[in-house]
Amino acid sequence: MKNRRNFLKTSALLAAGVAVAGKLKAGEKHDDLNLPGLIYTEKHQGKWQNKAGSHVPQVKINGNKVSLVTNHGMSEKHYIVRHTLVDATGNVIGAKTFYPVDEPKSEFELPAGYKGKLYATSFCNKHDFWVNEFEV
Ligand SMILES: [Fe+2]
Repeated sequence: MKNRRNFLKTSALLAAGVAVAGKLKAGEKHDDLNLPGLIYTEKHQGKWQNKAGSHVPQVKINGNKVSLVTNHGMSEKHYIVRHTLVDATGNVIGAKTFYPVDEPKSEFELPAGYKGKLYATSFCNKHDFWVNEFEV
């Protein structure tokens, strides 16, 4: 149980960190998701090469609803622990914690009129923290 709590704590901290790293000054550009060992993305798979397809949360947008799916198996020993959706300023729009018997799917409602960057996160108990950055 302690490991599970640590995963959740780490997930929340990293979600907040992503949002902070995403704050840029006007005109400034950098790859804010290149944080080897902390955050894994489609582009930066680090030590988990070829794991992006089963760990990056897939995003579908329907009006103000954002659906996340991680195409990952779920078993007692290896599963997706949590999804979060975080906006560009670090507000956690929503989070869903999974148990091994669950499907790693979640749906969140965007604040009315929200436009801009969003971060979908997926935390695997073996393959760490994955982020999909997108815009609405
Ligand atoms: Fe995994």
